[in-house]
Amino acid sequence: MPVASVPEPGSPPIGGLEGRVAIVTGGGQGIGRAAAHAFAACGALPVIADVNADKAAAVAAEIGPAALALPTDVADPASVEAMTETALRDRGRIDILFNSAAIFSTLKMRPFWEIPLDEWRRVLDINVTGTMLATRAVVPAMRAAGWGRVINVSSAAVNRGRERYLHYIASKSAVIGMTRSMARELGGFGIAVNCILPGATMTEIPRETTTAEGFKAFAQSQCFKRTETPDDLIGCILFLASPQTGFLTGQSLTVDGGGSHL
Ligand SMILES: NC(=O)c1ccc[n+]([C@@H]2O[C@H](COP(=O)([O-])OP(=O)(O)OC[C@H]3O[C@@H](n4cnc5c(N)ncnc54)[C@H](O)[C@@H]3O)[C@@H](O)[C@H]2O)c1
Repeated sequence: MPVASVPEPGSPPIGGLEGRVAIVTGGGQGIGRAAAHAFAACGALPVIADVNADKAAAVAAEIGPAALALPTDVADPASVEAMTETALRDRGRIDILFNSAAIFSTLKMRPFWEIPLDEWRRVLDINVTGTMLATRAVVPAMRAAGWGRVINVSSAAVNRGRERYLHYIASKSAVIGMTRSMARELGGFGIAVNCILPGATMTEIPRETTTAEGFKAFAQSQCFKRTETPDDLIGCILFLASPQTGFLTGQSLTVDGGGSHL
């Protein structure tokens, strides 16, 4: 049975990402974009898999030849299978999956009884089923290698029980449970599955779910009283991707400046 890799003597405390292929769903903007840049900075080869082909291509162009843009709809099984096939054909391996794609910044806040049922279903389809489909698609390659890292993305809004987007909360709660069960199902293949829960993170994209005033209020509710940015998540993402943390699995790590304590 494959075992988690042990750091080589003399290797840096966090590292070992050189040459590893990291698929970043939702990598066309926001946290996914920042993660793709961070993977590249560590010598990994990011695959930017986003439903928005133009944004995926733009991020790949920012990074340079190390990056590959693959227009992908994570809610479409054929599309995620094509993502995997192309990544394997062009890059030869898949080591890391960062499941950042979600319906998030375009959401309108409203009481749950006013959420249209088709919107409810669409959020669950992309945020929950999409996370499962993307993970399912990369498992054969990781399993064959006896090594893999899946990093799911939930939200600290689940800890807070944030109101007015219940479909989003339902979807991100599911991701925490899925992380635990996926870790059990994939551990025997040397694949670690963990999850991060970002707090209210200001990215380059304006959104209706948090106003400038809202960001200030979030900052005041945290232990660290400043607004979170994608850079605040990078260390934890790289930590979870690293060969050095291979005995850590099924965990959900809240990275929200101490805004919630679960
Ligand atoms: N920014 C925050 O405050 C925050 C806080 C907690 C959790 N999160 C989570 O972090 C992740 C990234 O957040 P963000 O702020 O960058 O979000 P975002 O809305 O800015 O970006 C989401 C990306 O996913 C892509 N996408 C949407 N549907 C897709 C699909 N079907 N297939 C492939 N790609 C698709 C979009 O095109 C976009 O590039 C999300 O999972 C979000 O729920 C964000």
